[in-house]
Amino acid sequence: MFTQDITSRFGQLETPFYYYDLDVLRNTLQACQSAAQKYGYHVHYAMKANFNPKVLQTIQSYGFGADCVSGNEVKAAIEYGFGKDKVVFAGVGKSDREINAALDADIFCFNVESQQELLVINDLAGAKGKTANVAIRINPNVDAHTHHYITTGLEENKFGVNVWQLPDVADTLRNCKNLNLLGIHFHIGSQITDLETFKTLCTRVNELSEWFEQKGFNIKVLNVGGGLGVNYYSPDQDNIANFEAYFKVFADFLNVKPNQEVHFELGRALVAQSASLIARVLYVKNGLKKNFLILDAGMTELIRPMLYQAYHQIENISRLSVVGSQLSEEKEGQQPTQYDVVGPICESTDCFRKDVELPESFRGDLIAVRTAGAYGEVMASHYNLRDQVESVYSE
Ligand code: LLP
Repeated sequence: MFTQDITSRFGQLETPFYYYDLDVLRNTLQACQSAAQKYGYHVHYAMKANFNPKVLQTIQSYGFGADCVSGNEVKAAIEYGFGKDKVVFAGVGKSDREINAALDADIFCFNVESQQELLVINDLAGAKGKTANVAIRINPNVDAHTHHYITTGLEENKFGVNVWQLPDVADTLRNCKNLNLLGIHFHIGSQITDLETFKTLCTRVNELSEWFEQKGFNIKVLNVGGGLGVNYYSPDQDNIANFEAYFKVFADFLNVKPNQEVHFELGRALVAQSASLIARVLYVKNGLKKNFLILDAGMTELIRPMLYQAYHQIENISRLSVVGSQLSEEKEGQQPTQYDVVGPICESTDCFRKDVELPESFRGDLIAVRTAGAYGEVMASHYNLRDQVESVYSE
């Protein structure tokens, strides 16, 4: 929610920038932490969603672990104070250099995505005289019913080990003296809003954990990944994800033995609502059939709408007026107009959304693209030799 103080502060600043509302972030972390504590669950923050320094410091201060997907993320997690005993490392293409660095850092667990990777980690750990903790990432063939670019748990995806490959994986594990099988790992996709999908996942985890136990392995960790979605249509803070309902699905449907721990890797749900991309209208272009609002931010600052046809709410925050104690859109007497809201990049796909209904807008107006805290700033690029996008904080 933008107050008049905030919008007048923005008026003094160069655009574009990501605006982080740290109260929203803290409220979200608090909600997740207390819901997880209720069930004794372990949550690793999926750093790929946002590794802005202030965001990382804040998340770390709540005691979350880190889920990393590159050697640099492992390094950053440790530098920002995430305990090394709470760092997990996934990824289909871990290089020898990255594996060696993670072994040196004594991380909690490698989430291993192939039989060949097991052999490589075994060799590299052996050369250091170490034993590596591993969890097998299994592809459970569960359809997450989300955008196909962010579905990961189907057999057609490159992630994890397919179920039919598990007997070979079990043999490999028996022969690898420098590996300790800690558990099994899953991640079926992102922006999952139908909790039924997680029930299906629980059923598969139950079957597969049982399979390993019957083969004589002790499965201590059930890591069910992340994927909890957020409401992009209602970006305000009262709409933080329902962690309570999410964890309850696992409490109700996952078979957990007394010696087992349940781990999660949440990214989006922890950070999405805490940031907006703030841009200025550079030009208003009236075409024959279309009106364009041309912003000073585009796909180089936030690529989600262009890459996944993702919806983000768009507001003209220079045209808000005070209704009661709150700012709301549309001044009296103003004509709402439809605009294609586009960026300055030399690509036709550089469009945040077509036919957006907004109050009549003018050069210099500030536009907020909401719910941009996850996979926003981290996916920014320098295409067209653009400047690095700045960050501004609520305090
Ligand atoms: N664990 C693993 C192994 C993952 O690959 C991911 C995300 C997560 C956890 C965290 O998932 P989350 O809780 O954030 O859904 N750039 C896309 C999303 C890509 C997600 C990649 N993996 C987007 O902007 O929608």
